[in-house]
Amino acid sequence: MRIFILFIPLLITPNLLAQKDIDINQKVDSLLNRMTLLEKIGQMNQLSADDMETNYELIRRGLAGSVLSITNPTVANKAQLVAVEESRLGIPIIIGRDVIHGFKTIFPIPLGQAASFDEELVQQGARIAAIEASSVGIRWTFAPMMDITRDPRWGRVAESLGEDPLLASKLAVAMVKGFQGDNLSNPDAIAACAKHFVGYGAAEGGRDYNTTLITERGFRNLYLKPFEATVKVANVATIMSSFNANDGIPATANKFLLKDILRDEWGFDGFVVSDWASVTEMIAHGFSENEKQAAMQAIKAGVDMEMVSGTYLANAEKLLEEKKISEENIDNAVRNILRVKFRLGLFDNPYVSSELKNVFYAPAHLEKAKEAAEESVVMLKNKNSTLPLKKVKKILVVGPLANMPHEQMGTWVFDGEASHTQTPLLALRKQYGEKVKIDYEPVLKYSRDNDISAFNKAVEKAKKADVILAFVGEESILSGEAHSLSDLHLQGAQSKLIKKLSDIEKPLITVIMAGRPLSIEDEIIQSDALLYAWHPGTMGGPAIADLLFGKANPSGRLPITFPKEVGQIPMYYNHLNTGRPPTGNDSQLDCIPVGALQTSLGNTSLYLDSGHEPLFPFGFGLSYSNFKYGEPKLKEKILSVNDTLNVSMELSNIGDYDGTEIVQLYIRDLYGSIARPVRELKDFQRVNLKAGENKVVHFQLPISQIAFWNINMEEIVEPGNFHMWISRDSKSGEPINFEVR
Ligand code: BGC
Repeated sequence: MRIFILFIPLLITPNLLAQKDIDINQKVDSLLNRMTLLEKIGQMNQLSADDMETNYELIRRGLAGSVLSITNPTVANKAQLVAVEESRLGIPIIIGRDVIHGFKTIFPIPLGQAASFDEELVQQGARIAAIEASSVGIRWTFAPMMDITRDPRWGRVAESLGEDPLLASKLAVAMVKGFQGDNLSNPDAIAACAKHFVGYGAAEGGRDYNTTLITERGFRNLYLKPFEATVKVANVATIMSSFNANDGIPATANKFLLKDILRDEWGFDGFVVSDWASVTEMIAHGFSENEKQAAMQAIKAGVDMEMVSGTYLANAEKLLEEKKISEENIDNAVRNILRVKFRLGLFDNPYVSSELKNVFYAPAHLEKAKEAAEESVVMLKNKNSTLPLKKVKKILVVGPLANMPHEQMGTWVFDGEASHTQTPLLALRKQYGEKVKIDYEPVLKYSRDNDISAFNKAVEKAKKADVILAFVGEESILSGEAHSLSDLHLQGAQSKLIKKLSDIEKPLITVIMAGRPLSIEDEIIQSDALLYAWHPGTMGGPAIADLLFGKANPSGRLPITFPKEVGQIPMYYNHLNTGRPPTGNDSQLDCIPVGALQTSLGNTSLYLDSGHEPLFPFGFGLSYSNFKYGEPKLKEKILSVNDTLNVSMELSNIGDYDGTEIVQLYIRDLYGSIARPVRELKDFQRVNLKAGENKVVHFQLPISQIAFWNINMEEIVEPGNFHMWISRDSKSGEPINFEVR
């Protein structure tokens, strides 16, 4: 009986889904049969919302499939009315918008959310963004961004989910599920867009839009992973092609990636949109001679919809007439686009529902945004338990980021409002101001400010306080698209400020709000405690205030390596070992005698001045509690490729605070047909433990999940010996052996 109960839904659900897809495909085909060539090309054209009068006319003539960035529901409904009532075939448009980390209620930047390692919370954040965005008629977001990056100079690291393919895959899947909801046709569901396909985060030197050089194996073993997961696990509705040219081929014209892998191998049946003008940018790349050729190359490669640059509309008819593209190229693209429109239910109801109430900044949304901000903060230092604050009577708050609502929202926020954003200064005063006297002296007006004239005043005030809270970091415009940096030290006179304050004999707590890992070795040394808060969004202030006072306990872990210096970049935990793996980590410059004879013998792969260790490794983060890791116990140490690795370990909270530990499972494949990384994250769990509590943590890792693309470009598990760690970060723990036969 029980078996029946379990099996019936399993049997019915896929069939129902399949039937729904068959129905949709029939509707798509019957509509396609009625479309003129120009109407088909029109569907492949996306307009920007700058000039809606012109847009209405194009929509009326069937010459637009989508409009980007309408945010007014009246305009959205008017555009749909024109599409549905006034165009010949009544095909609704799809309205898209960059809703990256919240629409009105802004969540931490994606890199900050990644630090939570919390799939459920990340999914809820995306759900809230979808509820708010859909209430004005937006049914498509250009998110999540899942570009793996190993370079914090790249401004878009802020939008990313960090350096690790497993973490990025899990969180990207969570975001897609959150945006798309249970059913894409629900009025509050929005289509997600996995971007940027693919390799954009590997821009040489971290300079945005720069060239990449990724091999097929590199794509398959790393950069493609999150995309594959969102297609196969989360049914992501759309994909965006990226700006970069890899090995000379712009991603927007890369048939191997867009068709052979995405469509033929993975079976993706949503649509692909170009990035903003990435079709015409192929001319600047030197890949296309003119717009007509660019349109041809993108269409043939499988870019179904062109974002704003209009070359499809201008050239596709002619290209077809000249047989440079085929009718099949066009029909396939239009099918993909219409399929998503049907899935979104736009044909049944294209309008913003009057039932959707104003949901902006709903209390439940703010509460979740606060939770997300709390979980995203990573504590990097806490000397002598400086934090949480106890028994303080007088606090001096300094620094440009203490009260800058606009800056703490972070990059690529277009709809969140500074007036709704709660800063640390306001939150400290509101939440703790009755018990503690809070003095404020910004000293620097903004992060790049070099005016040190208020330093002495701050020092005088600091001498009278019990503790100094310094809020430094980056303005939001210093990270994000087209905002790469070659120097990652704190901007302006911020480092000088920290140094000056550290010279006073008062506890100095530094809170950094930034879009990327910064070079903060000095600030770590000079501060008694340091919280890395990223750009934490609307509710960053209340979250940070509660963390400082111990109402919340830091649990965030670094989703990306923090190098000491820019010169160490790229630096990432899952690197290969090299033939001369590094030993020793101190500067060796002073040990080299003057006039030393040439030699390399005994030397290893490191920098003479900065060694080989990062400032903080991937996965690192402190808590107010102390967690003791027991010895991991493997159920079986010899397994076959079809088995599951079962491992358990006792975790104890031996500290004085309730807390959450992010327990991480890593493996290393010791020998392979190609060299394998020194460690790879394979699973993780957020474990909540009360002070004094113990728990046995279990992991079950199917051996199939340690497969990789090998020397023969096959994705297989190669039998052999492995190491496994259960550890608190990517550097700690003792390896345990297991074998796959
Ligand atoms: C960005 C995309 C974004 C698009 C639309 C481009 O500049 O690269 O990520 O979705 O603009 O705003």
